[in-house]
Amino acid sequence: MSRVVVLDHPLIDHKMAKVRDKNTDTKTFRENVNEIGGLITFEITRDLDTKEIIVETPITKTTCKVLSKDVIIVPILRAGLGMVDGIQMIIPTAKVGHVGMYRDEETLEPHEYYAKFPDEITTGSVLVVDPMLATGGSASAAIDAVKKRGAIDIRFVGLVGCPEGVKRLQEDHPDVDIYLAALDEKLNEVGYIVPGLGDCGDRLFGTK
Ligand code: PRP
Ligand code: URA
Repeated sequence: MSRVVVLDHPLIDHKMAKVRDKNTDTKTFRENVNEIGGLITFEITRDLDTKEIIVETPITKTTCKVLSKDVIIVPILRAGLGMVDGIQMIIPTAKVGHVGMYRDEETLEPHEYYAKFPDEITTGSVLVVDPMLATGGSASAAIDAVKKRGAIDIRFVGLVGCPEGVKRLQEDHPDVDIYLAALDEKLNEVGYIVPGLGDCGDRLFGTK
């Protein structure tokens, strides 16, 4: 069974209050989503593999640790894009793959419409990123998509999840740890997270 890590940090809580507030404007919303993406990265990457190298300081030679594998960020389009810059601020060498998913508004079933990944997807540490883990359908299908291309070392990174989405993802992908800024109460009858933050893609891109 995978681990579920809910970040418990005053800075993240403070920024989550901004993104949950319906009166927050698009620019502030986007900035805070990205900043939470950056903060959350510190915890997600805690157990990444490292290797030792010899570095010559101005004083002497010493042994240092560096990441031993590529990191590949895979945002689920559209809303996942909102966290990429924040994560890349912390891991500037990370490569980015993309997977496009939209939820059918009636059935809530995810549909893949785009997929493009770097070759390192098979050997790197893959962060599948989507701010919202609602039914879990989109995240599960996106993880299917990266596994189909050979990804093995995979983590899911979100802002807001709910018990329904966590359960679905743990059942479908017991090998994928889940990192969230907040775990909310439930899904409502039309598939939105309660209390949540509304439609994340629309709020990021100003489409509503
Ligand atoms: C939203 C969100 C997730 C998905 C979560 O995307 O960004 O991808 O819903 O819901 P689920 O867990 O029930 O699958 P949406 O389909 O609205 O597309 P968008 O990001 O392009 O707006
Ligand atoms: N997608 C969103 O953007 N928000 C939700 O609450 C659920 C799915």
